[in-house]
Amino acid sequence: MKQQASYNRIDNDFLNDVIEGLSQNPKTLKPKYFYDNRGAQLFTEICTTPEYYPTRTEIKILNQNAEDIASQIGDNTALIEYGSGALEKIKILLNFLNEPVGLIPVDISEDQLFASAKNLENLYPDLEILPVAADFTKPIPIPGFSHPPKKHVAFFPGSTIGNFEPDLAIQFLEGVTKTIGVDGLLLIGFDLKKDIETLLAAYDDQRGITSSFNKNLLSRINDELGGNFNLDTFEHEARYNENKGRIEMHLKSTTEQTVSINKELFEFLEGETIHTENCYKFTKESFTAMSSKAGLYPVKTWTDDQNLFAVMLLRTTSNL
Ligand code: AVJ
Repeated sequence: MKQQASYNRIDNDFLNDVIEGLSQNPKTLKPKYFYDNRGAQLFTEICTTPEYYPTRTEIKILNQNAEDIASQIGDNTALIEYGSGALEKIKILLNFLNEPVGLIPVDISEDQLFASAKNLENLYPDLEILPVAADFTKPIPIPGFSHPPKKHVAFFPGSTIGNFEPDLAIQFLEGVTKTIGVDGLLLIGFDLKKDIETLLAAYDDQRGITSSFNKNLLSRINDELGGNFNLDTFEHEARYNENKGRIEMHLKSTTEQTVSINKELFEFLEGETIHTENCYKFTKESFTAMSSKAGLYPVKTWTDDQNLFAVMLLRTTSNL
């Protein structure tokens, strides 16, 4: 496996982003910083909790429709997966796709990326795998394959698109449109709107894995940036913002306190929160409206029988 360089390494930005985010009112931190090695592991664990339905539902949708999806995609394609994580979902497609040329897994968690890519290479020795360690919220140089593909297919599962504010989601999708080019396809998973109890439980599991995942951000700041957060004085909180159609994750200070990070001081009131993540929920219609603004038009949509989650195939040229 050719090891690609790591692009737009996050190390330099981390301190600046943390100081900027904690200086705002309300205080915020960017969700991409969840995913250090421990964070990536904790997320993989979240996916196994009974409350977190998105992962297993999406996998079920992919499994039940793999043949149809593969035939819609066609043969000799180049695949680009954004936020490839453990690279489990792409295997479902690879088992049905007709002679795919190669795969570019893109992920911010370098160790997991290269380990998973190595693993996949053993399973699919004919597939050219070119992992790229990068923050995909910024433009990424896409390496070329030794065999020219018929078309480029972006794969963006997991409803990670829901982490972006709507205007940034459109911006990201515009970048995808440019990357996949004429005749390009995007296969994307997004979470559907549903009853609030189901949503809240998914982001506040009984075993407290989501809480550890959220608080891991504070540990990272302590370890990597010399912060002195006392993790026992912050609580994980999941809220549903009905107005914006999104789950929000927060870390709530249980006491009035001052935290220092690399000589900078940050004051917290009792009950004040750091807003750490947004997870937007969509309808098929709201998602179609958003993606069409980025030049992507639906080909076909697959859902589960409870309408919890959707997988949509889109293309860069309209039917009309
Ligand atoms: C990886 C962004 C799709 O939004 O559901 C899970 C992250 N955060 N539990 C999501 C997450 C808390 C997840 N995504």
